Amino acid sequence: MLTSDILTRAVETLRRGGVIALPTETVYGLAANCEDELAVRRVFAIKGRPATHPLIVHVARASELPSWARHVPEEAWRLAEAFWPGPLTLVLPRTARATDAVTGGQDTVALRVPNHPVALAVLDALGGGVAAPSANRFGRVSPTTAEHVRADLGDEVDLILDGGPCTVGVESTIVDLSGKEPAVLRPGGLAVEELERVLGRKVPVRTSATVRVSGSLASHYAPRAGVVLSEPADVVSRVTSLRARGHNVGVLGPPSLTLPPGVPRYDVPEDPAGAARALYTRLREADEQGHDVLVACLPRAEGLGIAVRDRLSRAAAPRPAGG
Ligand code: TXA
Ligand code: MG
Repeated sequence: MLTSDILTRAVETLRRGGVIALPTETVYGLAANCEDELAVRRVFAIKGRPATHPLIVHVARASELPSWARHVPEEAWRLAEAFWPGPLTLVLPRTARATDAVTGGQDTVALRVPNHPVALAVLDALGGGVAAPSANRFGRVSPTTAEHVRADLGDEVDLILDGGPCTVGVESTIVDLSGKEPAVLRPGGLAVEELERVLGRKVPVRTSATVRVSGSLASHYAPRAGVVLSEPADVVSRVTSLRARGHNVGVLGPPSLTLPPGVPRYDVPEDPAGAARALYTRLREADEQGHDVLVACLPRAEGLGIAVRDRLSRAAAPRPAGG
């Protein structure tokens, strides 16, 4: 999938302070060497993201945790053992290796081992950490193919690695283990039920935490069209009344939905994992068709359905002016 030529180019690009697009199992990342402050600043500039919003440090293996986190609690090791490489990010107290440029000046650092052969090969060959937010402009839909990255950021990145479509499709689940009790800061590609099974206790979801999590801004993950949320049983009446008011409506939902004639459906499967995988691609496709409203059918609130509902709610939230 990745020739040694391209791998060498990717690592050289990172070593000389360049920025590359890197496939992971969740979404594509915009990657820079964590220990190169200028390169990290370029990531913020390309994304148009406020520099105080911290980035996730991606590493090749769990054994690298102690060089980035000054205290690694037993529960962190247990989660790493169970789910890494995978769609889980751990927030821990940082060491000096995690610089202010990456952490936004916070005393904690977010760490993850991505489950993608291309990302792992790059991290392994680099022998360090890579800071990588999703490779989209701030506030827009995250990319799940190399094509999405090209369309959004094109010439602004030094190299785009194509690792195929992302298999998980939504960002990692972020768990804060820096406080007394674990908490989920962002539901994502690892189901909260799975975490709770391994930790043997309930883990609250605290998305409006005091730490700065840009994914927790209400209007994040927004397409251009307005988004209206709907339970499956109400989709048809929603569509009918929006059309009666003259809107050009598209529907994001499962093939089992029967829609009024002439209303296009963008397939988002009924099963939560399938919905997560398809979500961002379908949002982009629907957005390209020029609808002014998308009616999004909500999946069940279980497993990855919780992350899908979270992203759809943010896409549906009021947008700040110019955001
Ligand atoms: O799946 C993912 O996590 C993807 C792929 C590329 O790995 N990355 C991603 O990065 O979603 P980004 O920057 O779009 O989102 C990272 C989130 C942000 O909401 C950020 O605020 C939060 O992680 N974060 C980073 N460091 C943190 C910290 N020390 N404490 C709390 N939240 C933190
Ligand atoms: Mg993002």
